[in-house]
Amino acid sequence: MGEAIGTAPPRHGERLYVRGGARLEGQVVLAGAKNSALKLLAASLLTPETSVVHRVPRITDVELMVEMLRALGARVSSEGATLTIDPGGRLEGCAPYELVRQMRASIIVMGPLVARLGEATIAMPGGCNIGPRRIDFHIRGLEKLGARIDIDHGFIKVRADRLKGAVVALDYPSVGATENLLMAATAADGVTVIENAAREPEIADLAAFLGAMGAVVDGAGTSTLQVEGGHALHGAEHTVIADRIEAGTYLIMGAATAGDVTVLGLDPAHLELFLAKLRAAGVEVDEGERRIRARRDGPLAPVDISTLPHPGFATDLQAQIMVLLSLAEGTSIVTENVFENRFVVVDELNRLGAGIVTSGHHAVVAGPRRLSGTVVEAPDLRGGAALVTAGLAADNTTEVRGAGHIFRGYERLEENLRALGADVASDIPGAASPEAGADAAGAGAATDGTI
Ligand code: EPZ
Repeated sequence: MGEAIGTAPPRHGERLYVRGGARLEGQVVLAGAKNSALKLLAASLLTPETSVVHRVPRITDVELMVEMLRALGARVSSEGATLTIDPGGRLEGCAPYELVRQMRASIIVMGPLVARLGEATIAMPGGCNIGPRRIDFHIRGLEKLGARIDIDHGFIKVRADRLKGAVVALDYPSVGATENLLMAATAADGVTVIENAAREPEIADLAAFLGAMGAVVDGAGTSTLQVEGGHALHGAEHTVIADRIEAGTYLIMGAATAGDVTVLGLDPAHLELFLAKLRAAGVEVDEGERRIRARRDGPLAPVDISTLPHPGFATDLQAQIMVLLSLAEGTSIVTENVFENRFVVVDELNRLGAGIVTSGHHAVVAGPRRLSGTVVEAPDLRGGAALVTAGLAADNTTEVRGAGHIFRGYERLEENLRALGADVASDIPGAASPEAGADAAGAGAATDGTI
């Protein structure tokens, strides 16, 4: 498991070497959901009392959020996958630029800080390569709750003597805006209604944690949330739900290698439409109590995919499913409706032999294509996961550079893939760096000599 969370970033390489050809077979115990854990840690700031969060994934983004909590004045300690957060000291209201720059999800401390302190100063989070990642819904919602907001020299300054309950109708079911407003509303006088709220399972997980802290939240999982503010919140203990995007990624990896993979620990209902699409593509999917098994030994069929807010097809699985569809016997159309620019990885997938043509929000995925390993660059977290998926299904060896992106959101990726029979390795810092040739085909000796 390595050092405890919050002591040092998890050790990982910047290059992953993936030799294709192995059928993945076996089970993966899922980690806690990155996109819930980060918000639960932020929510712990809502009370001066200590909270305990279990099943926190040991990933770079969590390390950055722990750094953020400490920079704000909270004490954080860890034991295995459990974090104990004591925000009882004097909290700072300013989230440092250096941390916000590294992780735009840091914006999620804005709601808790305004709720607890009546003020917050947050560096404007940059966009990233999947889109401008605006925060106008967050800002307009907080203003509806009575906050005054100025943007000055790249910082968002929020002030609110008293937050007042209001009806906030979101233009779009933004996950982050729903979460920030939900947390701020716990401190508002009276009732807040958030209409057109996001319905992702991670929102329900946050609402459950807030409820354990003494908040009164109704409607979690629906598009209308109602919060009865003004209750003093206390510390609570909570276990993060399993990561549905990690689950979907491993199920796609298994299907892409004509394998047989089971993921353990999550509610299959969190992936309902995704599983229907896997079945339509010719993957045999069995759902059980907190387990999903995906097997494929025949040809894949083309399937059209449109990403949408939950319960639609998750945008965070779009890049990965495009790899699977590249192996299908026919042409699929993938439409990205959530982010402005989430086909960045397509060029790198095409270098591996995929035949994807994009036009605006649409990608035409030709199949079947024979993938063949080479050196590629991960543009972001899920694009990186897609490149690893392609490497697993490709001939010879794929060298995925920029693997640091992938370790932001996948705990124990190498260990889990090896346990499934994959031939992967990385250039862990400080280990004998593999001599990867200009073309990783057949080169890229890894630290453990497997490839
Ligand atoms: C969360 O991002 C997730 N990140 C993303 O996962 C996920 O892709 C996304 O939700 C959608 O499910 C975390 O939870 C840390 P949004 P978030 O606000 O909250 C626009 C991953 O790979 N928008 O629902 O930023 C925005 O530009 C990451 O794990 C505004 O215009 O998503 C985007 O196009 C990637 N104004 C769309 O809405 C706003 O004020 C969806 O954004 C807010 C958002």
